[in-house]
Amino acid sequence: MRLLFIGDIVGRAGRTIVQDKLPNLIERYQLDFVVINGENSAGGFGITESILQDLIDAGADAVTTGNHAWDQRDALVFCERQPAFLRPINYPSGVPGKGANLYHARNGASVLVVNAMGRVYMDPLDCPFNALDKELDACPMGDFADAIIVDFHAEATSEKQAMGYFLDGRVSMVVGTHTHAPTADHRILPHGTAYMSDAGMTGDYDSVLGMDKDEPVQRFLRKISSSRYTPALGEPTLCGLAVDIDDATGLAIATEPLRLGGHLSRHIPSFWEKSAN
Ligand code: FE2
Repeated sequence: MRLLFIGDIVGRAGRTIVQDKLPNLIERYQLDFVVINGENSAGGFGITESILQDLIDAGADAVTTGNHAWDQRDALVFCERQPAFLRPINYPSGVPGKGANLYHARNGASVLVVNAMGRVYMDPLDCPFNALDKELDACPMGDFADAIIVDFHAEATSEKQAMGYFLDGRVSMVVGTHTHAPTADHRILPHGTAYMSDAGMTGDYDSVLGMDKDEPVQRFLRKISSSRYTPALGEPTLCGLAVDIDDATGLAIATEPLRLGGHLSRHIPSFWEKSAN
């Protein structure tokens, strides 16, 4: 079974490349299930229901978020009627929406997607490790779920690596989001979970974190904000992590990053190329 996770979409540049490329990637490389982090897809801040629908129409089976989940206030309402939308599972109880959901993949398999948020240099939500532990006890891999994808939205690489090892062998993949820069540490952990500290963003890399670079540079220089952050609109890069799993166990057999377009070096997973239509 073939999984793809696409990192944080920033603004129109990120949305456009997903809409342009994803349908073809799904077809050409026979992708069974696609998750996208969409928390910066609406002008860099949050996600609207119509953008969520655009991402679903492009091929997203689930759309995860993070600290910007509620930037567009409508999300507090549409999260209840859009099963594809996930917010971090470790928000306090009573917060709208879901942090985990079970989906049907194109090959008929059941895929559990869990979105959690780190606490180091982030809002102090409930413990993400306990939240994941509880969720995986309720829906273990091989029982109710054929594959499990965890988007751990966090700032600190240490917390992400700790989560990777904490979940190793219990989920198909743990992929980090939020820093908007792809890391080169993708690998399969000792007990079979695919891991990457950060998938990177999907947007214009000629920017600061996907935002037009002038204002962030000025703020570092002068400590005064002179205008709003606006998403950079140059040539975008689509960034993500591809994982092939063993259908019998749900564990990873191959993992490589995907980088397509824009200012970063191109990388199509070699195991995709070998089986291309
Ligand atoms: Fe974030």
